[in-house]
Amino acid sequence: MKAERLDKILASQNAGTRKEVGTMIRAGRVSVNGKTVLRPEFKADPEHDTVELDGAVLTVKKHLYLMMNKPSGVLSDSRNPKAQTVIDLLPHEWRRRGMFPAGRLDKDTEGLLILTDDGDFAHRMLAPKSHVTKWYEAVLAHPVTEEDVQAFRKGLELADMTCLPAELIPAEGGASAAIVKLREGKFHQVKRMFLARGNKVLALRRIRIGDLPLDESLSPGESRELSASELEQIFRGKLL
Ligand code: URA
Repeated sequence: MKAERLDKILASQNAGTRKEVGTMIRAGRVSVNGKTVLRPEFKADPEHDTVELDGAVLTVKKHLYLMMNKPSGVLSDSRNPKAQTVIDLLPHEWRRRGMFPAGRLDKDTEGLLILTDDGDFAHRMLAPKSHVTKWYEAVLAHPVTEEDVQAFRKGLELADMTCLPAELIPAEGGASAAIVKLREGKFHQVKRMFLARGNKVLALRRIRIGDLPLDESLSPGESRELSASELEQIFRGKLL
């Protein structure tokens, strides 16, 4: 990590907003390597310097990993001057530079979305060879048939691609709904797969990535931090 302004370091570690931590620094509550620093613009390297707030050493977390329950009507984008994005929904202290959604959900799709500032992690999670399984709950125009289940399992032919084998679990009692488990994530993939079977997705929600389920206690639009073990869960739970 390179040297950064002290107020930026403290704000990125959720000690307060940039303005609040500026006040804390000017009040003499922050020290670097044992010396009180009164200037918010003072530069420190949190990996090598010891930063203390009120005498407590700040253990700097390099990256931030969040789970969001994405609501419908919001773009899975970092910034968009014309429309609301998932980053706009984050509390101020998490809206720091470099946060982005690791993978996209359509504007009208809801559910589990991972947000991070760790490009390597996102790359690992999204790389096709990682085979991370995504689970979707789909409300459909028509019930699913046994032929649909077989076609998904075999690998559906779309206009421009052959899908990898996917698991389709029809809803109980013949309801027009299903769970789909995919280990790829092409543009509009679930919607296109059902269209290829003469069906239509009316509503879509991602409920799980690998072994990590959506935390149903999060209201739409809410986020929370992920623990290290939850991050590992993402890479467990292979398909089929
Ligand atoms: N498949 C879709 O069609 N849309 C999504 O948002 C995710 C998967």
